[in-house]
Amino acid sequence: MDVLGDLLGQASSIVALREQIRQILARTSHAHWLPPLLLQGETGTGKNLVAHVIHRAGPRGAGPFVDVNCAAIPDGLLEAELFGFERGAFTDARQPKAGLFQRANGGTIFLDEIALLADPSFCRSSRNAPSAASAARAANPWMCRSSRRPTRI
Ligand SMILES: Nc1ncnc2c1ncn2[C@@H]1O[C@H](COP(=O)(O)OP(=O)(O)O)[C@@H](O)[C@H]1O
Ligand SMILES: [Mg+2]
Repeated sequence: MDVLGDLLGQASSIVALREQIRQILARTSHAHWLPPLLLQGETGTGKNLVAHVIHRAGPRGAGPFVDVNCAAIPDGLLEAELFGFERGAFTDARQPKAGLFQRANGGTIFLDEIALLADPSFCRSSRNAPSAASAARAANPWMCRSSRRPTRI
């Protein structure tokens, strides 16, 4: 099945987009390192659809697809949501909790509208932060981000 067929349209921009996706998939089919992707475009231009298509057609297609609505994560919960925490990390942490990166291990984490994260730089820096749970540091999902505005995140 050609999942790229889900991306409808014959406009030159869509034809070029399908070709670009094919090239990404060809380059990553046997790669150990998967380049982080950034999908940029106005609302409704198909960023979520493209993220799903790339995931399903790519080397992580058999793994989970974890769709993260970045705008919905409250500031204070960012680290716990993304990276989880270990037992005893804070007073109420009686049980360890897996973060979204860990849940996406072996698959794709889609950070939708990443520029709307309370602290967008957090995503880069805290993968190495001492407080990030060790299992989350070991997790290695393919990272795909979207933004409706130009961003350097
Ligand atoms: N090229 C396309 N082919 C088929 N459906 C599309 C295409 N572009 C957008 N859509 C559909 O339009 C709707 C909005 O797309 P979505 O991926 O949510 O856009 P965005 O994430 O950029 O806001 C979805 O139902 C999506 O499946
Ligand atoms: Mg979207």
